[in-house]
Amino acid sequence: MRTSVLLSAILAVTASEAATFTAREAGNSTNSLIVSETPDYVRPYIVRAYTLPGVRLGPQVYRFPVTGPSSGYAFTLISTAAPASTELGVLPHLHQTHYENFYCLRGRYALWTSKDGKTDGRILTPGDYGAVPHNTTHTFQMLDPFVEQVGVIQPGGFEDLFYFLAQENYTSSTYAPYPQGNYTTPGGDAETISKLQALDVYAELTFSPPMAFDANGVSGNGTGVWHNGENSLAADSATPFFVAKGYGPKCLTSTTNNGSYFIIEPFITSVQSDGNFTEGTITMSQLSSGAQADTYSFTGHTALEVVDGLVGVSVGGYDGNVTLAIGDVVFVPAGTKFSFWGEAAYSKVLYVGQGTDTLDAALLRSATVWDSVIWPAS
Ligand SMILES: *[C@@H]1O[C@H](CO)[C@@H](O)[C@H](O)[C@H]1NC(C)=O
Ligand SMILES: *[C@@H]1O[C@H](CO)[C@@H](O)[C@H](O)[C@H]1NC(C)=O
Ligand SMILES: *[C@@H]1O[C@H](CO)[C@@H](O)[C@H](O)[C@H]1NC(C)=O
Ligand SMILES: *[C@@H]1O[C@H](CO)[C@@H](O)[C@H](O)[C@H]1NC(C)=O
Ligand SMILES: *[C@@H]1O[C@H](CO)[C@@H](O)[C@H](O)[C@H]1NC(C)=O
Ligand SMILES: *[C@@H]1O[C@H](CO)[C@@H](O)[C@H](O)[C@H]1NC(C)=O
Ligand SMILES: *[C@@H]1O[C@H](CO)[C@@H](O)[C@H](O)[C@H]1NC(C)=O
Ligand SMILES: *[C@@H]1O[C@H](CO)[C@@H](O)[C@H](O)[C@H]1NC(C)=O
Repeated sequence: MRTSVLLSAILAVTASEAATFTAREAGNSTNSLIVSETPDYVRPYIVRAYTLPGVRLGPQVYRFPVTGPSSGYAFTLISTAAPASTELGVLPHLHQTHYENFYCLRGRYALWTSKDGKTDGRILTPGDYGAVPHNTTHTFQMLDPFVEQVGVIQPGGFEDLFYFLAQENYTSSTYAPYPQGNYTTPGGDAETISKLQALDVYAELTFSPPMAFDANGVSGNGTGVWHNGENSLAADSATPFFVAKGYGPKCLTSTTNNGSYFIIEPFITSVQSDGNFTEGTITMSQLSSGAQADTYSFTGHTALEVVDGLVGVSVGGYDGNVTLAIGDVVFVPAGTKFSFWGEAAYSKVLYVGQGTDTLDAALLRSATVWDSVIWPAS
């Protein structure tokens, strides 16, 4: 489907540049919704996985589907693609004014958090999540041949750190997620990382992450609950926590015409963010044929990243629907109408919302607590 969208975009330009121009003049076609660079101002847009220019730090390539400028500094959405490394991916550090969130899209990585004398390590597999509130020492290590971390950092603008540290600007004509090469991991040398306080990075070089993981992927002296029991969200905005895929809280709802089931699995609600942002996943059944998707509009900005299946979206002011595949991101500004729906039998998005008037909050109002990761079979 991506091929056909790209193909039709190319054909539209080569066959009749004048016609394309007229279509855009007349009503913002979806061709102009899909961008190849993250906009530097707030507007609706879609970016396709791995097509954005990125920056390389050692073997890791960082791309920024949502930036400070593209979100009015609401939040930054980072995609980090990297191979396995025998070293930490970054030296231990904390942020005083940014709340950082780690989601695992591909491969495995270790993530450690440490605060108030309690240290937790987890091996994250795809779908797992870790919360790093203010003043939490943290670090990570990439463990598989192709790892992709999805980071959400609130407020927006944190990408400036990576521009500052970049060793190279990276683009690929084949959309290779990261380049071949014998790069050493940039933990960031101690001298550099100590210069970064202006970018809200405080080195914690005495922290030594506990490397002894049990068979369940747990280290440290925290609760130890991971892929073996219920993972609850922190009760406040200061405590780090982890949610293994499917082991967190779950709620079920359906679209108003019952055309599709949604399972909402929140990671961050107003409780964990002081009302600054929300994050979690929505698993959806395929929209019944003939059913309409619901339309939403919020007073804060919304970003959706597809993490499973295929998801259709329609964004107000743009003609036509776009099918998004894994890793594609749609950004919807405050006040803009949008719809989304499952096009595959099983699809899932990671959502990020600004403030408290958010997609998850709206869906949760009509949802009921649900003890399964799968919707009803009939
Ligand atoms: C295209 O969309 C933008 C942003 O939504 C809007 O400001 C602009 O007026 C639209 N242009 C047309 C021709 O509809
Ligand atoms: C984070 O630590 C700094 C420095 O100790 C302190 O001033 C600030 O209040 C802390 N922030 C939070 C949210 O605890
Ligand atoms: C957790 O372990 C660290 C050493 O790794 C130790 O300093 C700390 O006191 C321990 N905390 C608790 C609550 O046991
Ligand atoms: C990346 O490109 C930007 C814009 O052209 C430039 O300012 C920056 O120095 C480049 N970074 C590296 C590491 O080459
Ligand atoms: C790649 O790195 C390893 C370890 O850092 C080194 O032993 C090896 O010689 C390097 N290979 C090349 C082709 O540079
Ligand atoms: C959707 O399903 C609910 C519960 O089964 C039912 O009460 C409601 O009438 C249905 N709505 C529509 C529009 O079919
Ligand atoms: C929420 O935002 C306010 C205002 O920027 C900030 O003071 C507070 O620390 C933030 N809280 C969290 C948990 O992010
Ligand atoms: C977009 O999908 C909706 C179903 O949600 C459908 O009603 C509509 O006709 C589609 N629009 C286009 C332009 O294909």
